[in-house]
Amino acid sequence: MLQGRTTISKFVIEQLRDQDNHSELSALMVDVAAAVKSISSMVARGSLGGYLGALESGNSHGETQKKLDVLTNEAILQHCEWGGQLAGMASEEMDEPYQIPDEYPCGRYLLIFDPLDGSSNIDVNVSVGTIFSIYDTGRAHAARFDDYMRTGREQVAAGYAVYGPSTMLVLTLGQGTHGFTLDRESGNFILTHPDIQVPADTSEFAINASNERFWEPPILRYVKECREGKTGDRERDFNMRWIASMVAEVHRILMRGGIFMYPKDSKSPDQEGRLRLLYEANPMSMVVEQAGGLATSGREDILSIKPEELHQCVPLILGSRNEVERLIRYHQEYEAGTDKPYVSPLFGERSMFRD
Ligand code: F6P
Repeated sequence: MLQGRTTISKFVIEQLRDQDNHSELSALMVDVAAAVKSISSMVARGSLGGYLGALESGNSHGETQKKLDVLTNEAILQHCEWGGQLAGMASEEMDEPYQIPDEYPCGRYLLIFDPLDGSSNIDVNVSVGTIFSIYDTGRAHAARFDDYMRTGREQVAAGYAVYGPSTMLVLTLGQGTHGFTLDRESGNFILTHPDIQVPADTSEFAINASNERFWEPPILRYVKECREGKTGDRERDFNMRWIASMVAEVHRILMRGGIFMYPKDSKSPDQEGRLRLLYEANPMSMVVEQAGGLATSGREDILSIKPEELHQCVPLILGSRNEVERLIRYHQEYEAGTDKPYVSPLFGERSMFRD
């Protein structure tokens, strides 16, 4: 029964109706939603689909590539290459941008995506997702490298799908962030979470704490204060979460607030952070910002970073506004030398290493 329910196509067409080129962007969004549906079916088949496991070759970043990374990448290319809306595509799974095949017309939009984020979780049946970002180049043509070097502020749409107990597609077209749930009976994405708002305050933080020895002082300070809870400066208890699947992490933050951190660290000195600017940090930052949250690298507004490489990494801190602002302040105080020095538990007041 569809009556009274808003499907994703109806929603997108209505939101874009007053914009130039609304039909092209709407058609592209419908193709993205179709790709997400087919990925959802693949992921849901689990071991029965024969898709699980790793390939012998890794991807260009030296990371293990799962069979599903490759299959889901193909699914998005095939669903989106033919419609005449795209100037080109780029993805985590391809070294270079993808050219629209000669048999299809080129359009003006760029689609940049991570087809299966958190794929290391797939073999253990934990939620994974697809992340996407869309830009308007302003004219129909075959995209070149420079076309992709735009700041996140120029995104015209962004979103993600989370393949969890239910499949949800969360989307922003620059007018709020909205969530759709896949109704497997009708095959439609139905608007179930209009105008999502991230609470400004939270008592939940997410970080890979095994990297603690590589963190910078502002992050050490923040996490220490959270862990001290009621007995420390924050005067309230915090919970920590780490799913190791950014889509699932960001989805939780959109639903009930929280802060996600993959900060700058000294673990891999040759790269700035762990997450990719173009297809992880930028789209997630737009989604979170459009829901009233905030995103930063600690020192810079994520959406204002001008990319120089397709697979560039950045530090990423996003989520509930007041906590993200606090972390920005801790970074500023650290740079200015006015922060509270971090005292390691090993060398603090009651440590066994003190005289
Ligand atoms: O692609 C990046 C990613 O899988 C994210 O989804 C996740 O947040 C992060 O890496 C997990 O990192 P780690 O392996 O350090 O826990």
